[in-house]
Amino acid sequence: MKPIYLGVNIDHVATVRNARGTDYPDPVTAAAIAELAGADSITTHLREDRRHITDRDVRIIRETVKTSLNLEMAVTDDILAIAKAVAPQKACFVPERREEVTTEGGLDVISNMAKIEKAVNELDKVGTVCSLFIDPVKEQIDAAKKVGAPFVEFHTGRYANATNPQEQEKELQILTSMAAYADSIGLGVNSGHGLNYQNVAAIARIPQMNELNIGHSIIARAIFTGLTEAVKTLKAIMVDARNNS
Ligand code: PXP
Repeated sequence: MKPIYLGVNIDHVATVRNARGTDYPDPVTAAAIAELAGADSITTHLREDRRHITDRDVRIIRETVKTSLNLEMAVTDDILAIAKAVAPQKACFVPERREEVTTEGGLDVISNMAKIEKAVNELDKVGTVCSLFIDPVKEQIDAAKKVGAPFVEFHTGRYANATNPQEQEKELQILTSMAAYADSIGLGVNSGHGLNYQNVAAIARIPQMNELNIGHSIIARAIFTGLTEAVKTLKAIMVDARNNS
């Protein structure tokens, strides 16, 4: 059985910091604590509007991380230049709209093949392994394969936001079959968005799932329990689900 990995997204530590323009709470400290509690990687999204994570945060986390840094990024010239200079171990290309509250849908790889292929190649040269954040749709998976991305990350928002068990089961079936398909054509499969303590187990049971990137639910719980407990508990749910599947 393959292990399942947890990437902890620490963006919302920076959201709290930036709300008051202070230098605390520090996302760099959060990254270290998350790693000590069992995070397998640290995920962070350098947004074009810098609403939470800053360039400095990314540089310092890259220097201090003991596991790996997964940089979520829009495929724009500015952000790509920063990514090449920082050379994170992993990058996840996401669509980005300034007015959105969070990443609201998958990347349209089909309509942006040339641009994405170029970015995957440029980051490959600095040793960064790329994944494409896409909806679990066969045509987008095929396009991800064509542009040479080694990984896809499935957007689990439709699963997480389902309003009844039937709808959630339907979305789970789509994620399950598309994970098997992506794996069958040689892509690694990660997932993320809206995963929490209640809904993560079913996703962790999908045998091809490699890494789950989770932010909001962990940081929200950490306010009450501390970050160590929040990370440990989520990881234990994932690992138990995988081991007992
Ligand atoms: N993966 C990607 C690519 C994301 O953009 C995000 C944040 O939207 C996440 C995972 C984590 O989502 P959440 O904060 O809902 O756990």
